[in-house]
Formats: sequence, C-alpha cells, structure tokens
Amino acid sequence: MSDTILIIGACGQIGTELTQKLRDVYGKENVIASDIREGSEEMMTSGPFEILDATDKPGILKIVQKYKVTQVYLMAAMLSATGEKFPHKAWELNMTSLLGVLDLAKEKHIKQVYWPSSIASFGPTSPKINTPQQTVMEPTTVYGISKLAGEHWCNYYHEKYGVDVRSIRYPGIISWKTKPGGGTTDYAVDIYFQATEKKTYECFLTENTRLPMMYMQDAVNATIQIMQADVADIKTRTSYNLAAISFTPKEIAAAIRKYIPEFEISYKEDFRQAIADSWPQVIDDSKAREDWGWAHKFDLDLMTKDMLENLG
Ligand code: SER
Repeated sequence: MSDTILIIGACGQIGTELTQKLRDVYGKENVIASDIREGSEEMMTSGPFEILDATDKPGILKIVQKYKVTQVYLMAAMLSATGEKFPHKAWELNMTSLLGVLDLAKEKHIKQVYWPSSIASFGPTSPKINTPQQTVMEPTTVYGISKLAGEHWCNYYHEKYGVDVRSIRYPGIISWKTKPGGGTTDYAVDIYFQATEKKTYECFLTENTRLPMMYMQDAVNATIQIMQADVADIKTRTSYNLAAISFTPKEIAAAIRKYIPEFEISYKEDFRQAIADSWPQVIDDSKAREDWGWAHKFDLDLMTKDMLENLG
C-alpha cells in the first residue's frame, strides 16, 4: 500500500516547501496539508488542505481517518525567540502536539511520524565545535527544553510501544519562499531580503556569532530521506545531528557582497544574542551520514547565489 501523508503546520517556513516536494514525490492527492490558517494560493490549490490545530488530537484523528493517513509530519512549533516571550504557550504547543501524534501512532492509527528537533536542544555546557551526537545537553531556552524533552518522548514511544518516529536536529534553515518567524537564526534569511530590497541590513547578532545553518533544499531532502530510509538504518530514535554549513554574520555579508558590492551590514545585538551564544557553532553529523547516507549539497556561496537569484 502506498503512503498517505498529513503535514501539520504546512504553511510554516519548512512546511511550505516540504509540502510541495512531498506532493511531487507521492502525488498531490496523497499529501494532505494542514495548518491553523489558510496558506498561499499554491498551497491551497496544489492538493488537499484542512484547517487543523496541532494540539487538537481528536481533530487530527478525524483527518487521519478521513484520508486514511499513514504518515504524519508534525512541523508546527513555536521557535526560540517567540518561545522566550511566551514560555507556557511554547511548551503547550510543542509538547501537546507531539504527544497527541505519538499517541495516534501508539494506537495504530498511523504508521510513521516525523518530528523535528533543533540545535536548540544543546546548551552552553555542550561542546561548541563539532558538537557530538551524544553529549551534555542542558538547553537554556524554553524552545530548547521542549525539543530535548520531545526527543526523549520520541525515543520512549519507540522503545516502549514500537512507534516508528524519526527526527532530525535542524540547524538554522535558510529559504526565500516563506520567511521563518520567531527564531534566532532568522537573521540569515532576513539579510538576503534586505540586501536585495535596501542594500543594507542591521543584524541583531554580533559579527562573529557562528551558528550552524542549512539551505532549505538540503533540509527538505534530508527530511524525506530519513523518512524513506530502511528501518534498520535508523539507529538513533531521539534525534539525529544534521549539518551543512556554519558561518557568522560577517561571513554571510561578505558572500552577499560578491553579488551586491554596495551591500552594508551594521550590528545591534538584542536578547537573541544570548540565545545564539548558548548554541553550538559547528555540528558533527557523522552518524546521519553513516546510518542513512545524509550528504548536503549547498555551501555558503551556492546558497547565496540561489537566494539572490530567486529574490532579485
Ligand atoms: N531556527 C530555530 C530558531 O532559531 C532553531 O531551531 O529558533
């Protein structure tokens, strides 16, 4: 039997592009997009769409039964910066949605679950360079706490109930179609928009703040790849480290200047600096590469060229 997929949070930054790619791969009728509100015209017309609150387990079950869904990609979440403003809401959204979907898998309504974790699950006591798959994890943001707890819920449901849940610790994701909202790595998206519109950007992180990042195309490919991998190859059931590139605001500005020589960057740090300072700078993702063949394609220059071509 072929897969029928439900994406929860389909109108977000990653959900938007993941939905289109899954529709290409699995056929548009087999990929049901859902979100708390309607999305772009492309989202609404390229396949089935349902309004759905990620924390409404009975509502999710109804859609699962209506379309005979076999896989759920749970992409709804409150990110790091917004989470610091609304800690309880972040916890409620990020945890209730995950536990609801894991329960649906435990109760055999669905066969497979994808749930993203993040570099935010690490903290200031984790090694910053080549952060290993398994190491000290003491996150200091509510978002990070929810991701680390979520990883262990995933592992628990796999160990206790045999739930096939798969997860990746995303770095900052860069894209031009849909902007992220409320994250700390968002500067690396905004900078491209402002570079093309205004030729200048004021960065909320300092010039040498190095963070792990990835272009959207790589992130979407990794997500589908881990879900399609042979079950025997998935040896980590908390969440896999995943990496592509690491750069600083100064380095991304220099990459942009190769195409827009007059581009200027200035720096005015805000509360997000402390969040960035608590995260790794370079991630060791050798386990993902060994276990299920992960390989990234985009480096900083290739990504910059593609971003500016699409925004220009
Ligand atoms: N991009 C996320 C954030 O900045 C990290 O996973 O919150």
